[in-house]
Amino acid sequence: MASPYHWSQRPDRPGGAMTVSEPIEKMTEAEAAQELERLAGLLAQANLAYHTQDAPEISDAEYDALKQRNAEIEAQFPHLKRADSPSEQVGARPGEGFSKVSHAVRMMSLGNAFDDEDVTDFDRSIRKYLGLDTDAPLAYTAEPKIDGLSLSLRYEQGVLVQAATRGDGEVGENVTANARTIADIPARIEGAPEVLEVRGEVYMSHADFAALNTRQEAEGGKLFANPRNAAAGSLRQLDAAITRARPLRFFAYSWGELSEPLAETQMHAIERLASLGFQTNPLTRRCDDLEAMIAHYRDIEAQRATLGYDIDGVVYKLDDLSLQARLGFRSTTPRWAIAHKFPAELAWTRLEAIDIQVGRTGALSPVARLTPVTVGGVVVSNATLHNEDYIAGRDSRGQEIRDGKDIRVGDWVQVYRAGDVIPKIADVDLSKRPEDAQPFDFPTQCPECGSPAIREEGDAVRRCTGGVICPAQAVEKLKHFVSRAAFDIEGLGAKQVEQFHADGWIREPADIFELRSRYGEGLQQLKNREGWGEKSATNLFQAIDDKRRIPLARLIFALGIRHVGEVGAKDLALHYRDWDAMAAALDTARPAALAHRAADTAEEQERQQAQAEGRRARISDTRAAVISAQEVPPEAAAAWADLIGVDGIGATLGLSLSDAFANTDERAAFDRLTAHLTVIPPDAPARDSPVAGKTVVFTGSLEKMTRAEAKARAEALGAKVAGSVSKKTDLLVAGPGAGSKLKTAQSLGIETLDEDGWLTLIEGL
Ligand code: IVH
Repeated sequence: MASPYHWSQRPDRPGGAMTVSEPIEKMTEAEAAQELERLAGLLAQANLAYHTQDAPEISDAEYDALKQRNAEIEAQFPHLKRADSPSEQVGARPGEGFSKVSHAVRMMSLGNAFDDEDVTDFDRSIRKYLGLDTDAPLAYTAEPKIDGLSLSLRYEQGVLVQAATRGDGEVGENVTANARTIADIPARIEGAPEVLEVRGEVYMSHADFAALNTRQEAEGGKLFANPRNAAAGSLRQLDAAITRARPLRFFAYSWGELSEPLAETQMHAIERLASLGFQTNPLTRRCDDLEAMIAHYRDIEAQRATLGYDIDGVVYKLDDLSLQARLGFRSTTPRWAIAHKFPAELAWTRLEAIDIQVGRTGALSPVARLTPVTVGGVVVSNATLHNEDYIAGRDSRGQEIRDGKDIRVGDWVQVYRAGDVIPKIADVDLSKRPEDAQPFDFPTQCPECGSPAIREEGDAVRRCTGGVICPAQAVEKLKHFVSRAAFDIEGLGAKQVEQFHADGWIREPADIFELRSRYGEGLQQLKNREGWGEKSATNLFQAIDDKRRIPLARLIFALGIRHVGEVGAKDLALHYRDWDAMAAALDTARPAALAHRAADTAEEQERQQAQAEGRRARISDTRAAVISAQEVPPEAAAAWADLIGVDGIGATLGLSLSDAFANTDERAAFDRLTAHLTVIPPDAPARDSPVAGKTVVFTGSLEKMTRAEAKARAEALGAKVAGSVSKKTDLLVAGPGAGSKLKTAQSLGIETLDEDGWLTLIEGL
C-alpha cells in the first residue's frame, strides 16, 4: 500500500547526512571519479525508495542538492561522466522508473460519435440493448471532453493513498507524489466512502501553458507542442519538484472502486464529488432527450474558444447508474457513454512525396510526406493515404470520393486531424496542381523485399507476398509482439526492436528470449551498444524474464495473425484454454478450413456466372458440392465448426488462424517461441456460478432482456456463448419462435430452458 504521507510529513524520515560538500575546484581526478560513483549510488537508492518502494528516504531538497553536485562535477570533469550517470536518467525518459499500479477497476476509454446521426445511433443501440421503446424517457448527462490525461485517485478513509495514470487501462503508473502537488487534488476528504477512487482529467489552462512555454524558452528548456503534452510531460516527471512547479489542474468526472455507491444517477454522483471538494466541470448538464443533448453540444462548441482550456468534444453518459450497470462494457469502452467529437481541424499544405510502408501483415500503406503545417496546434508533416483506391479518388466499392479527384505528388492538399487519430488528407485543390504532376503509380512489388505485392479479390489493400523473408513484415511483427496489449516488455519498444533487428540480434520473437544467453554474457556485448548501460541492460533482461509467463490471450494476440485482434484472442483463449489444445484443434480442422476456402472461391465464381447468365446463383448447392468433393473427415468438420462457432470468431478469422498454423515456417517459429514460455490459461470462471464453463446458446426472441444483454450476462458468469447448437452445447435458452436450433438441441438431448428458467438459474448472481 502506498504511504499516505508526503515525504516531508513522514515521521520516520532519516536526516540529511548525505550531502557532503567537498569543494569541487580542489578535487583530484581520482576523488572526482570516486565522488561520482558515490553520488550515482545515492541517487539510485533515492530513486528506488521514492518511485518503486514509494517510501522516500531523503527530501526533495536533499535529492536536488545531490543531483546538482553530480552535474557540477560532471561539468568540471566531463570525461569522467559515468555510463549510468544520474544526470542522464531522471527526467530524460519520463515514464521509466515509475512503479506500476494495477487498477482495481479497469480504466476505460470512450467510443466516438462524429455527427448527430452517430449520437442518435448511440441512443438507439442503448434502447435496443435495454429493450426500451423509442419514446420511453431516458436521460443522459452531457459535459465537455477535456483534452488532458486521465488520472485515478484512490482515497482510503478519506486520505489520498495513490494516484495512477491510465496506462493500458489495466496497469498504470504510480504518480502519487506528483498528484499530491496539484492544488485541485485534495489530500484529505471528509464524509467519503471508506474506499473511493475518483477519476478525472489532469489538464493545463491556455494561460498557464503559454506562461510555461515562455519560461521554458527563457531557460533554454523544451517547448511543448500543446497544453495536453505539457500536462502529460509535467505529471509524468520522476522528480515531483518539477511537477510542483507546473500549474496542473484536475476535473473529476468518474470513479473506479467504491466501498458504497456515490448516488443513484451520474448527475448526483458528480454533485457528490463536488461536495467532497473536487472540481467538476461547470458545463455538466442533465439532458432529458436527444434534442437537449445536441443543443448542449452546440452550446459548448460555441464556448470552446473562450473556455481557457482545451476540450475536444462532449461526453454523453446515461444518467441512471443501474442502467449503466446493466449495459456494462465492451472490451475497452462502456456501452453507456460516448464522446461526441468536435469536427476535425483543417489546414492546406503541399504534398511533397508519397512513401510506401509495409506493415506486419504485409499491407502496403501509402504515407503522405507534407510540407509541415500546423493543424489545431500540432505540426503535421505526415498523413495517411489509406490505400491505392483512396489516392485514385475511389472508395472500396469503386464509388467516387473527392468528386473523383486523385492525389498527386506536388498537389496542394487539405489535411485534417480528428482527435488522436493520424492526420488524413481530405481534399485536393486542382487549381494549384503543377502542370507536370503525374498520377501516382502504386507499386506492384514490395519496396522492402521486392516480392510481388498482390491485391486479392475483395481486399482494399495490396500486400507483399514475401512473408517471413520480408524484413519490413518481420520488424512490424516484432513491434507488435512487444507492444502494450501483447508482451509489453519494458525497455524493449519499437525503436529498440528496429535496432536489434537491423543488427541481426532479433529476427523472430523467440530470439528475444535468447538475448541474455546469446549476448548478455557478463552484459558486455549489450553494454557496449550505444544507449545501453549496465543498469538498462540488467533491467531489460529482467523485463524479458518477467514475460516468460504469459497469459494465453496475450500470446495469441502477440503473434500478429491477420484478423486476430485483442478481443478475438481473448475469445480463442477462453474457448481453448490451452495453447497445445488450440494448435491440435487447428491441425484437425485444417482439411475443413481448406474446403471452406474452396467453397468460398466456387461461390464467388457461381455468383459471377449467374449474374452473367441473368439467373439466381445456386449458392448452397455450389458450396455443398465443393465441400463433399473435398472429402473432409468428420473430425475435421467438427473441429472447424467448433472454431467458427465460437461467438465472435467467424470464418475469416478462422481461416487466417488456420493458415498461420499450417504454414510450416510460421509454425516452427511459434514452436521455438513457446519453448521459452509458460502459458497461463485464462482465469477459471467464477466457481459458484451454475453456468461456469458451460456452452450456452440463445435462440428465439427474449422478452425480459435483449440478446446482447443475455450474452454479456452469461459470459460474466463464466459461460461460453455460442451461435449454433452442437454436441458441445450444454444448455439452450429458447424464447418464443425458436426453430431449428431448438429441434437440433432436442434431438441431441441437450438441456433446454425458457427465458424464465434461465433467469431463475442465474438469479441472485
Ligand atoms: S468518462 C468509463 N468523461 O477521454 C468512462 N472521459 O477518449 C470513462 N475524458 O480516457 C471516461 N473528458 O481520459 C470521461 N468528461 C469526461 C472526459 C473524459 C475527457 C477522457 C478520458 C478518457 C478519454 C476517452
